[in-house]
Amino acid sequence: MDQLKRQAAARALEEVRDGMQLGLGTGSTAKHFVELLGERVAAGLKVIGVPTSEATRADAERCGVPLTTLDEIDHLDITVDGADEIDPELNLIKGGGGALLREKIVAAASDRMIVIADDSKWVPTLGKFPLPVEVIPFGLGATRRAIEKAFAECGVSGQMAVRKAKDGHVFVTDGGHWIVDAQLGRIVNPPGLAKALSAIPGVVEHGLFIGLASSAVLAGGDGIRVIERRKPKGDQE
Ligand code: A5P
Repeated sequence: MDQLKRQAAARALEEVRDGMQLGLGTGSTAKHFVELLGERVAAGLKVIGVPTSEATRADAERCGVPLTTLDEIDHLDITVDGADEIDPELNLIKGGGGALLREKIVAAASDRMIVIADDSKWVPTLGKFPLPVEVIPFGLGATRRAIEKAFAECGVSGQMAVRKAKDGHVFVTDGGHWIVDAQLGRIVNPPGLAKALSAIPGVVEHGLFIGLASSAVLAGGDGIRVIERRKPKGDQE
């Protein structure tokens, strides 16, 4: 599996050109991309990156990839990031690693987002992977009730749980928020649910990435498949 993730990362690296400004994703697949990019930088490639988490910042620094912020540059050429699920419209569930907020800000600031994954992430319908919803701890009871209402209006339901870290304490994101993971099973209308969740006070962000991915690089036993998004970036319908 790790070999497949590295193959997908290597294929995405072929899109990177000298002088590019890159969004650097988070997770085990994106980590391969940062490592391979570091090798190219050591060999003379000139790029600059914006990390989507403190973990990726540390990896990029270790690999010698120069970093900047979205305050210092006005756009990114490509963001390369992993995903927890990818559907045929290239809608995604992200946030299994807890970095969804920065990942979405960085992806939205990029001309292109390339999703890299092993092909187990390819699904006909999103929702088997629990949907992460990043929330403000204040008023969480009210926020949870509003989330449940949004789920019902969008034809889904399921258990919700505040994410715990490995040490048993509540998981806290890089932004200081909490995450509620929702076991929905099958999300019938991802764009509709994304809009409904975004409208809830107390929800900082959610793991549905709609209309952001330009292409997906899927590595499997039979080789690599590159799937291009049919609709223009930002088109949510
Ligand atoms: C991080 O918050 C996530 O969005 C990751 O991109 C996603 O969980 C994929 O991670 P892996 O590459 O480790 O499967």
